[in-house]
Amino acid sequence: MELFDAIATRRSVRKFLDNPVEEDKLHQVLEAVRMAPSWANMQCWHFIVVKDRAKKETISELSYVESFFAPKGYKVNPAKKALAEAPVVIIACADPGKSGVLWDQAYYMTDIGIACQNLWLAARGLGLGTVFVGVFDEAKLRELLGVPSHIRIVGLFPVGYPFEEKAGGTPRKPLSEIVSYEQWRND
Ligand SMILES: Cc1cc2nc3c(=O)[nH]c(=O)nc-3n(C[C@H](O)[C@H](O)[C@H](O)COP(=O)(O)O)c2cc1C
Repeated sequence: MELFDAIATRRSVRKFLDNPVEEDKLHQVLEAVRMAPSWANMQCWHFIVVKDRAKKETISELSYVESFFAPKGYKVNPAKKALAEAPVVIIACADPGKSGVLWDQAYYMTDIGIACQNLWLAARGLGLGTVFVGVFDEAKLRELLGVPSHIRIVGLFPVGYPFEEKAGGTPRKPLSEIVSYEQWRND
């Protein structure tokens, strides 16, 4: 798939077929992550691949933070079932100490964000689907997976073959609203 097609047709996929993800495809997704750029090329990330059914179910149970979802009216994370049912879940972690901080901007989130987008687009390019799950109980997940306290867990990616090809996309603001030229525009 061409890069721009992958960008334009990528969707959040939360329902999967039972088919397993082939090892070579999983490897290609992880290679795409490895190729991502990062602050001073420090590659502050670490990815945990989970296939164990019981572990995925526990991860799914931990994808809930009441204070975040209550105001939006969600009772559960929309990706909860996906985390239990996807053949593979990839956990994206980052070491803030292995990236830059400049003028109060912590670049580990940028580093891991770029790597995660590589993951998402590579999955799409290979016919796989996934979704970035950013809402979860980090402390309990850290305990479950043995992640040290200085490492942040930033995102969970249930990966599998999409149950269906979603037509159309989620809405986006028009360019006229998000781009200005030469200087900031107040309107
Ligand atoms: C940082 C981040 C965190 C997200 N967390 C969740 C989440 O916890 N649960 C979920 O179902 N979707 C989550 N999403 C998916 C977004 O809701 C989704 O990307 C957005 O609605 C746009 O839809 P699209 O990905 O299909 O274009 C997250 C996306 C990002 C980038």
